[in-house]
Amino acid sequence: MANYRFPDGFKWGSATSAHQVEGGNHNDWTEWEKSPARIAQLKKEGKDPSGFISGKACDSYNRYEEDFDIAKKLNQNIHRFSIEWSRIEPEEGRFDFEAIKHYQCLVKALRDRGIEPMVTLWHFTNPVWFADKGGWLNSKAPGYFTRYAKYVVDNLKSEVGLWITFNEAFTVYAGHTKLNATWPSRGKGIFNFLKMRKNIAKAHILAYQSIKDSYKNVPSGQALHNGMSHNVMIGITENNVYVPDTKVFWTTWARRKYKNFRNFYFFKDNAPYYDFIGLNYYHMSRKPAFSKKNEIVSKQEFMKEVNWEIYPEGMYHVLKDLSKFKKPIYITENGIADESDQLREKFIKDHLYWVWRAIQDGVDVRGYLYWSLLDNFEWAEGFRPRFGLVEVDYATLERKIRPSAYEYGKICLTNQL
Ligand code: BGC
Repeated sequence: MANYRFPDGFKWGSATSAHQVEGGNHNDWTEWEKSPARIAQLKKEGKDPSGFISGKACDSYNRYEEDFDIAKKLNQNIHRFSIEWSRIEPEEGRFDFEAIKHYQCLVKALRDRGIEPMVTLWHFTNPVWFADKGGWLNSKAPGYFTRYAKYVVDNLKSEVGLWITFNEAFTVYAGHTKLNATWPSRGKGIFNFLKMRKNIAKAHILAYQSIKDSYKNVPSGQALHNGMSHNVMIGITENNVYVPDTKVFWTTWARRKYKNFRNFYFFKDNAPYYDFIGLNYYHMSRKPAFSKKNEIVSKQEFMKEVNWEIYPEGMYHVLKDLSKFKKPIYITENGIADESDQLREKFIKDHLYWVWRAIQDGVDVRGYLYWSLLDNFEWAEGFRPRFGLVEVDYATLERKIRPSAYEYGKICLTNQL
């Protein structure tokens, strides 16, 4: 490839989430994993339920220093991880200081390695007490979440400047829990889906305001960490799919409607309440096309472990689409499930090429975080799909850096493709 340079200061890294890597959690997802209904369903599908129980996962709760050594070795300068709400507030209103201390150590471990922390406050899991109260359908949910968010931010704010409130709440989470109910679900149905989206949007706005307030006590311009000052930015991450064009009038109309509903739900009405957009882009979706006359039908290529259609150019289009909201964008996830590691290097480079193109065309992209640093617990898919730059042996917990990770590491080091 020719040299495609990224802007100075562009951030390079990878992402994880608490439940997927930490191990030893107790939340609504762990309850569901072990429920008789879930186990019976897996058996019916001929699957071994033990591959679908998060258990010790990657044991990153204990091995995070080793993980961050790897991230540093791979020249990464940003790392996204999430805080497990059920550890911080295991019972309603009881905040566990030991748990917050753990995350303080984790943030310090990143800073000591010259890696900027990007912290997600919620990545799909809830405390059991919260789920028992109706979870995101409870009208008090925004208040519960904001109280938790404030506690976390007050304890980490001197070291963290990049916050993400919710990960893929409006699309992936609401859909899997309320529409197709393939995830822990209490109260399926379109009305619950809409109610959940509304409550989560409310929770985000309340938390956004509360986090902003917390930083008011920090004198502006003060160096927050080791002489590094940073601007505090609070964002929200969504999963956007590329929706291909069709040649038929009414499918073009359907496509526009679907994109509004699917990709822009939060962004279009809440401009004052987010400082950046977190974009997770993985694949295209042909759903609303309703027509075989699809312009790019001949180029189909799939991520076999999860059956997603790979379309790197889609990255360019979703970035261009999002740029109309006039906020900086971080690519908070993009990655491929590829145990053999045959396709990963090309996948990363192809997508980065289209990120670069979007930047040339004026889109304000600030960083790229590959999903994921490690192979990990892939939600309802269990441990099978392997997205990691680093292979994890789940029996020994040994980490092995994949060849593609070194190739990505070169890009991170040189700031160019
Ligand atoms: C989620 C991750 C997940 C990844 C790959 C994203 O939707 O945020 O938690 O592991 O996709 O499936």
